[in-house]
Amino acid sequence: MTTREPSDHIVLRAAETLIVVSARIGERARIVYAGPDLPNVEPVELEQLASRTHAPGGPAQPIEASLLNTIGTGHPSPPGLLAHSDGQDWALDPRVTHIESEGELGARIVTTDAASGLAITHQLELSGVGVLSCTSRVTNGSDKDVALDWCAASCLPLDPTLTDVTSFTGKWAGEFQTEQTQLTRGSFVRENRAGRTSHDCYPGLYLGTNSTTESHGKACAVHLGWSGNHRLRVDRLSDDSISVQSGELLLPGEIILAPEGEYSTPALHVCWSNKGYGELTRRLHNHVLSRLPDAAIARPVHYNTWEAVYFDHSPEKLFALAEQAAEVGAERFVLDDGWFGARRNDAAGLGDWYVSHDIYPQGLKPLADHVRNLGMEFGLWFEPEMVNPDSDLYRAHPDWVLAAPDADPIPSRNQLPLDLTRPDVRDYLFERVSTLVDELGIAYIKWDMNRDIQHPGGASGQAVMHHQTIALYGLIDRIRNAHPSLVIESCSSGGARADYGILARTDRVWTSDNNDARARHSIMRGASHFLPLQVLGNHVGPKKCHITGRRFGMSYRAGTAILGHMGMELDLAQESEADRDTLKQAIALHKRHRALIHTGAYHRLETDDHIIAAGVCDRDRSEALFQIAILDQHKSPHPPRTRFAGLDPARRYRLACQWPAPLAKDIGTFAGSALIEYGLQLPQTYPDTCLIYHLEAEQ
Ligand code: DGJ
Repeated sequence: MTTREPSDHIVLRAAETLIVVSARIGERARIVYAGPDLPNVEPVELEQLASRTHAPGGPAQPIEASLLNTIGTGHPSPPGLLAHSDGQDWALDPRVTHIESEGELGARIVTTDAASGLAITHQLELSGVGVLSCTSRVTNGSDKDVALDWCAASCLPLDPTLTDVTSFTGKWAGEFQTEQTQLTRGSFVRENRAGRTSHDCYPGLYLGTNSTTESHGKACAVHLGWSGNHRLRVDRLSDDSISVQSGELLLPGEIILAPEGEYSTPALHVCWSNKGYGELTRRLHNHVLSRLPDAAIARPVHYNTWEAVYFDHSPEKLFALAEQAAEVGAERFVLDDGWFGARRNDAAGLGDWYVSHDIYPQGLKPLADHVRNLGMEFGLWFEPEMVNPDSDLYRAHPDWVLAAPDADPIPSRNQLPLDLTRPDVRDYLFERVSTLVDELGIAYIKWDMNRDIQHPGGASGQAVMHHQTIALYGLIDRIRNAHPSLVIESCSSGGARADYGILARTDRVWTSDNNDARARHSIMRGASHFLPLQVLGNHVGPKKCHITGRRFGMSYRAGTAILGHMGMELDLAQESEADRDTLKQAIALHKRHRALIHTGAYHRLETDDHIIAAGVCDRDRSEALFQIAILDQHKSPHPPRTRFAGLDPARRYRLACQWPAPLAKDIGTFAGSALIEYGLQLPQTYPDTCLIYHLEAEQ
């Protein structure tokens, strides 16, 4: 960073994105523009174009927005920073005291509120793929304690035509469902108090105009990279201006800053597009992939034991499952819940991270070695943050759990959250996980977390959700540092912890416990708005889905799992030989196209409601793979034509259906323009069919 000469504007520019910030020493800092690039524009022109005359009946001078719209500025929008010192110093009006820049890719602006002594350091970073990441850090420069009630990462003005909001909600086994809302004047607010990223309140939004589609129109996406509580709000003011802000939702008294104390917000990630929602997705995917430690490594096909055995472990059964898994093409065998302590059901043993010698008299080493001898990696399930009251750990340390002194604990899956803000708790967990990784040669951890934390009270009785989340990150980082090649999955009752904060230190998310092939398509489509296929676990489940009770043929189940980080989670002994063979073929197909699936540019296709279709094109648009799922009966006698996306309209493509096997055939060679604009007539099939098409450009 270089310290800047005082000047009026900071300009960040990358990947067709432009951010203009007005920042002058002694004045308020303000985002003048953030959005798709405006080639050749001078910042002052934007100021001129936006200058307003006096509004009759309004304040005598214009009140501009600023980076946090604090109360002292008089701005009418909800403030992005709420703090006070024992009821005083609440009308904050911070002014710029320091500016540093990193050329066109980053800036740091320090603003200071003279009366309270609070300094706010705003960090803005524009990545090479056009995603802006902003954080704010508040430092208490006074000699009094300051209570911090709310601090957004930033308040960002949006194009006033972005009034269509897509939010992401859901439940256990029904994650990442989309909801559409139109902004009226007032506020769209989502608050998450689950103590984890949550099933029902994903920390991200898409915004578009009333005509934005996947491939056309203005759009913006925001995402808060945080795995604790959060608030995400979009406010449309009486002048029809729109601003978005997001930060950590703080519980009462949670953050009291002592003199010199600091609080940093999680990062808010934002990107824009003039070419529809799809471009936002591709920017965000590139952003995630650029931060993943092993993005370039092929993702091994998983076999997970959960739905095959649940808590009913036996070495004989698991040895046999490992052999069957290797036979159909698995490359990583993950032993799920039930291997430790007295964990024969979900009511006991959690926290006792010692291999259960009742079940495994020789320990787990023989199974881990067997798995490796079969050519697979060995992975193991943990739920480090939790404890069953019926466990040796809880009996020895009943004070190690989070609780609010005055509230009844909320029962949830017979377990309580451990207080990770305690160093002794973290040390115990680090020692247990680390020792097992070394002893068993664990290559992969499925890191689970299976309950909300409603009452995150620490030892002092104060709310500690913020510190708990930071402590979780620190624990994972410590384990990773000690075992650099370890791969970690973030699971939380399925997909309840799949944000960019956790993904900065884990490699994959378990998208959902729902392996129902029909339900999976909407879950994957929702998740795709923020998460690339490479990190989205997608497993083949049993023929009768354990969650929905619906039955599907192997061809549909396996075809569905091909698009994602493929795996399986079923008792292979219960499948017919023909179905195991179909599964083997699907895994082979996935492996053949794995590099394309995991690194290609992702495109959701626009289809009738009973079809969900998406696919990937490689970076030079010479190869593509699309998955088209028929979820229900067609409404007319003939299936609709489906238009592909992402192809080069000027090239010709050889088109082949590759799945399901009975429909597999070469279809012909077609102009890219026709495949994009005219589309392909789908074949007649039963509902619950998953078609896979491969396209290859002619040289
Ligand atoms: C919840 C996860 O989502 C499941 O996949 C499984 O690991 C169970 N927990 C085990 O308790």
